[in-house]
Amino acid sequence: MKLQPIRSYLSHWLNQVDEHSIHSPFFFDFYKNVIKKSRKAPTHSQIEALRSSLVSNNTEVATEDLGAGSHINPNGKKSIADIAKNSLSPEGISQLYQHIIRYNDSKYIVELGTSMGLNTLYLAEKKDAQVYTFEGSKALANIALTHFELFEKQNIQIIEGNIDSTLAEFLQNPKKINFALLDANHRYEPTMRYFNLLVRRFNDKSILVVDDIHWSEEMEKAWKELYQHKLVYGSIDLFRCGVLFFDPALNKQHFVLSL
Ligand SMILES: C[S@@+](CC[C@H](N)C(=O)[O-])C[C@H]1O[C@@H](n2cnc3c(N)ncnc32)[C@H](O)[C@@H]1O
Repeated sequence: MKLQPIRSYLSHWLNQVDEHSIHSPFFFDFYKNVIKKSRKAPTHSQIEALRSSLVSNNTEVATEDLGAGSHINPNGKKSIADIAKNSLSPEGISQLYQHIIRYNDSKYIVELGTSMGLNTLYLAEKKDAQVYTFEGSKALANIALTHFELFEKQNIQIIEGNIDSTLAEFLQNPKKINFALLDANHRYEPTMRYFNLLVRRFNDKSILVVDDIHWSEEMEKAWKELYQHKLVYGSIDLFRCGVLFFDPALNKQHFVLSL
C-alpha cells in the first residue's frame, strides 16, 4: 500500500475547516450552496442504473497506455467492471460537478478524460451547455459514444486521440471555457501543460477542477503549484479533487474543506 495518500489524508483531515471558519462571503456561499447541497442531491437513477450494469460486465477491453498511470493495472486489458469500479467519478463527485456548472451557469465545458462517459452524461444534463470530452482509448471512446446515443445526448462532442496533441488544436477556438475538468493523465508535467493551455481560455468566472490531487507525489506537487499560480485567485482542496477560481476579486484565498 502506498503511504503517500495516507499522509495526505491525515494532513487534509488536520487542516480542514468547517463553514464557521469561512469568512469570505463567496466561499461561504459556494460551500453551502454548491458543495453541501450536492451531497443531498437526488440520485440520477438512469445513469446509476447504467453504472450498475457496467460494474457487473466482465467483458475485457484493450486500454492504451497513454502515460496516465494506474495503481490498479498499469498495462494491457481491463474488464469493463474494473474500469467502472476504479476509474469513474463516483456519483457524489459527478453530482458536485453538476452543481458547479449550474452555479456559474457554464455553457462551454471541457472534460479531459472521458472513460466510459458517465460523468460526461452528468455534465450534459445541463441542456444549454455544450460538453467537449477528450479520450485517447479507442475502445473506451466507442463505449462512451454508445452511452451518449442511449441517452440521446445532442450536446456532447467526443474528441478522440492523445490529449497531448488534441487539446492544443481544440483550443485554437478562442471561445471562453466556463468549466474544465482535468481527469486524464494524472502526472505532474502533463497536468501543468494542460493547465497552461486551458488557462488562456478562461475568464474571471471560469472554474477548473483537478481530480486526484493527492493521488501521488507528482499530483501533490502539481496541486501546490496550481493553487499558488499567479492566475489562480482562489482554491478549495476537497481531498478527492481541487477546485480553482480565476476571479481577481477573490484575493488569493485557499481552503481545505471536506465534502
Ligand atoms: C479517470 S478516467 C476519466 C474518468 C471520467 N472523467 C469520470 O469522471 O468518470 C481517465 C481517462 O483518461 C484517459 N486518458 C489518460 N491519459 C490520456 C491522454 N494523454 N490522452 C487521452 N486520454 C487520456 C484514459 O484512457 C481514461 O479513460
